[in-house]
Amino acid sequence: MTANPGNQPDPALLTTVPTLDMPSHPPGDSLRMKYVRAIGPRLRVVLYLIFGLFALLGANSAYLGSITFLEYLKGLSFQNYFYQLMFLVHLVLGLLLVVPVIVFGVFHAKNSHNRPNRRAVRMGYVLFAAALVLLISGVALMRFDFFAIKDPRLRSPLYWVHVIVPLLCIWLYGLHRLAGPRIRWRVGAKWGVAVVVSVGAMVVLHSADPRRWNVAGPKEGERYFFPSSARTASGNFIPARTLMMNDYCLECHKDTAEGWFHSAHHFSSFNNPPYLASVRETRRVSLQRDGNVRAARWCAGCHDLVPFFSGAFDDPAFDDVNHPTAQAGITCVACHSITHINSTRGNADYTIEEPALYPFTESSDPVLRFVNRTLVKAKPEFHKQTFLKPLHKTAEFCSTCHKVSIPAELTKYKPFLRGQNHHDSFVLSGASGHGARSFYYPPVAKNNCADCHMPLRPSAEFGAKFNDPRPPSRS
Ligand code: HEC
Ligand code: HEC
Ligand code: HEC
Ligand code: HEC
Ligand code: HEC
Repeated sequence: MTANPGNQPDPALLTTVPTLDMPSHPPGDSLRMKYVRAIGPRLRVVLYLIFGLFALLGANSAYLGSITFLEYLKGLSFQNYFYQLMFLVHLVLGLLLVVPVIVFGVFHAKNSHNRPNRRAVRMGYVLFAAALVLLISGVALMRFDFFAIKDPRLRSPLYWVHVIVPLLCIWLYGLHRLAGPRIRWRVGAKWGVAVVVSVGAMVVLHSADPRRWNVAGPKEGERYFFPSSARTASGNFIPARTLMMNDYCLECHKDTAEGWFHSAHHFSSFNNPPYLASVRETRRVSLQRDGNVRAARWCAGCHDLVPFFSGAFDDPAFDDVNHPTAQAGITCVACHSITHINSTRGNADYTIEEPALYPFTESSDPVLRFVNRTLVKAKPEFHKQTFLKPLHKTAEFCSTCHKVSIPAELTKYKPFLRGQNHHDSFVLSGASGHGARSFYYPPVAKNNCADCHMPLRPSAEFGAKFNDPRPPSRS
């Protein structure tokens, strides 16, 4: 700790009153040494506050940094709920530091800019400048509705500045103090131990088990949803509320939501009259024939994901018009929570999981909602990993629903009847670069469906990804 705790004025802290320098001053007159402390009692409180916050932030950042480093080493995602909370703490502590640092810096400089110890003064200025850079880079990395830096060419240098400058600050502080009054090393060492212990505690709290993406769900899951090949990662249902969070997505992905709203995927379910008629018939016939509507689950794996995975679909009395899940269609969360494509056989052979959400996503309290949105905006990495897996960019992803083979459980006829199949026709076509029978080949082969069906569009929505300069065409 820096403080000069006793009441003894340190020589380096003394400021002489101007009269001292006056040559006309009669010698022998009472040389009043009025000194202004570089850090007065009120400023000292501010300084202690800064040290306290900085210690907590230091521990917190060391924890965040070690998770990031572990992810880099192992190529896995170690972020979990605790990590999100710690990141929230990071934002709060960082923002709390802004005012005290500025107040302290300004007043401390005002008190001591004309000290004789020029070296300490100079280092002090450099330290203050570095602290400001740290705070500004931190605030700039957060994204606000009115101001957000998205260009990775600017964002990643900013990130590194924000990581390196705090270390620089500690070093500069050392230099500043070495040039000034005696440092009390033991207090500093205690401070350091406290930081190390709290980092250790946090790493222990953080469960050692990382979230693993792309794992096939349990086999029981499949039986549970049979004859659809779809399964949930846990084998359990997924709450309808989570699957139907379109309004949440809309807050930051306005243009995407607008595109989806008018798409066939929105109207894939009981909200599509031709489908409503045919699925009603399927349910009626299977109830009559089997005494339950399970055979119709097969349709639900592609058409009615929300009632299916939340469990309402199996109820023979399901109100297919007024039930809240009946009109949902294939929602944002439904597609974006698919974590594994188990085969290219189609028939919904995918695994879906309940997405891991940031703290307070579903809260109705306005303050907590604001906290949630701020977290997603400031650190969308976890959000991005949750909602966009590499598999989403493949033709196999679309194949899971766009390749249909009608099973015997449904028809009690043949074990296999080919339905519509947009996947194989694509693979065998010239467009994919695989077919040999085409007359026409595009200059560059398309390696997925989205290249044609979901091309990039300019968008000013908050969650728009920075795609400029556009990535080289996929080939
Ligand atoms: C509070 C704002 C916010 C909300 C709400 C939100 N997102 Fe995002 N989303 C973002 C931001 C920020 C990004 C990152 C953009 C970037 O790459 O710069 C993003 C990126 C994405 C991506 C692209 C990931 C990638 O790697 O390119 C997907 C997919 C996505 N969001 C889906 C969703 C879904 C689904 C929902 C609703 C459940 C949702 N988002 C709700 C802010 C939000
Ligand atoms: C039919 C499945 C499906 C549905 C439904 C769906 N998405 Fe997507 N979404 C995708 C796929 C696939 C991609 C990746 C496209 C690519 O980059 O090849 C994607 C990409 C995105 C991206 C990233 C775009 C970028 O800049 O790269 C965002 C953001 C997104 N979706 C948000 C949403 C939101 C919000 C909704 C609901 C309103 C939604 N999606 C509904 C399949 C879907
Ligand atoms: C969860 C299942 C599912 C996934 C995944 C899926 N789709 Fe679909 N898609 C459907 C269903 C069901 C329909 C038919 C909706 C209706 O009209 O009732 C459909 C309709 C469509 C249509 C409109 C067809 C028409 O006749 O107008 C297109 C185009 C399409 N999908 C493309 C894609 C692409 C591209 C992907 C991959 C990025 C994809 N789909 C992923 C289930 C899915
Ligand atoms: C493997 C996924 C899958 C399964 C299972 C499935 N469908 Fe479909 N269905 C689709 C896709 C994809 C489309 C869109 C095809 C197109 O537009 O060419 C579609 C289209 C339809 C349409 C035409 C909708 C329209 O608006 O034109 C009806 C009706 C339909 N399906 C009924 C059913 C019924 C009933 C079942 C169950 C007995 C069922 N489907 C099972 C994927 C599936
Ligand atoms: C080279 C661009 C391109 C690629 C790649 C592509 N499509 Fe298409 N797709 C089209 C066009 C263009 C149409 C409209 C054809 C028409 O209207 O006759 C279409 C039509 C469709 C339809 C509606 C078919 C119907 O019966 O009305 C579906 C569903 C579809 N595509 C799904 C897919 C899927 C799934 C993939 C990937 C496996 C894919 N497409 C890849 C360009 C593409």
